[in-house]
Amino acid sequence: MNDEPLVISSVEGPIAILTLNRPQVLNALSPALIDDLIRHLEMYDVDDSIRAIIITGAGRAFAAGADIKAMANATPIEMLTSGMIARWARIAAIRKPMIAAVNGYALGGGCELAMMCDIILASETAQFGQPEINIGIIPGAGGTQRLTRALGPYRAMEMVLTGATISAQEASAHGLVNRVCPPETLLDEARRVAQTIAAKSPLAVQLVKEAVRTAAETTVREGLAIELRNFYLLFASEDQKEGMRAFIEKRAPNFSGR
Ligand code: CAA
Repeated sequence: MNDEPLVISSVEGPIAILTLNRPQVLNALSPALIDDLIRHLEMYDVDDSIRAIIITGAGRAFAAGADIKAMANATPIEMLTSGMIARWARIAAIRKPMIAAVNGYALGGGCELAMMCDIILASETAQFGQPEINIGIIPGAGGTQRLTRALGPYRAMEMVLTGATISAQEASAHGLVNRVCPPETLLDEARRVAQTIAAKSPLAVQLVKEAVRTAAETTVREGLAIELRNFYLLFASEDQKEGMRAFIEKRAPNFSGR
């Protein structure tokens, strides 16, 4: 029995860092690991002291996908009733900003997990792919939808049909990745972005994330309605008054999250 935590959690001021920790199997996303990840994410989502969450992987992978050994003999009914993959939707429902620091392989469910994050930073050694077709299945945790939105239909289609992986540089060139960093500075870059976000009004951060997510997941009409609702809503906050007053008084704002 291995006593290592499946997810290593550390808090640095307003930032939580979650490290997927099954390096011996390239952080294959077993149901137990996903449950632990969800538990941490939902805990930090309601913790006012945490303003941004970084997800990364131990060893040479971010995550090489859902755990194939945990699914190999499953029936469709077991897949359905266990909620093994369906429960990943709780990761996409986190309201705090999430930054994926992709340190190596992000394949299958690993790529899908990265795409549930709001910002994707990649090490020069990272590789992205949806290779499910190689094992006789298709992506099941958002890959067909989010990869298509990120890369466009033709690049996404080629990846899911051939199972080919792309490098961090290619992923960046085509819009899947925000930035490529040397491996040794990846986490520091993630910390820097997280700190920048952590200094903003947490209300504005939450509401703008919701609005941009709506753009990525629904229609422009629906997205515009959410954007305007959230824009109006922020005028009920002390942070809006403080932010605008600080601008006019030429000083840094002091956001309270109210
Ligand atoms: N599930 C379970 N175990 C995995 C795994 C996975 N997704 N990926 C890697 N491992 C295990 C390997 O079985 C191996 O374990 P053993 O040492 O016990 O044999 C260990 O991790 C190291 O892997 P390799 O020896 O294969 O390492 P490599 O460097 O030769 O190859 C790799 C690396 C190309 C990433 C290869 O491991 C690989 O192809 N992995 C599977 C990728 C994949 O198909 N992912 C999709 C999974 S399905 C999915 O994610 C569905 C969904 O949409 C939710």
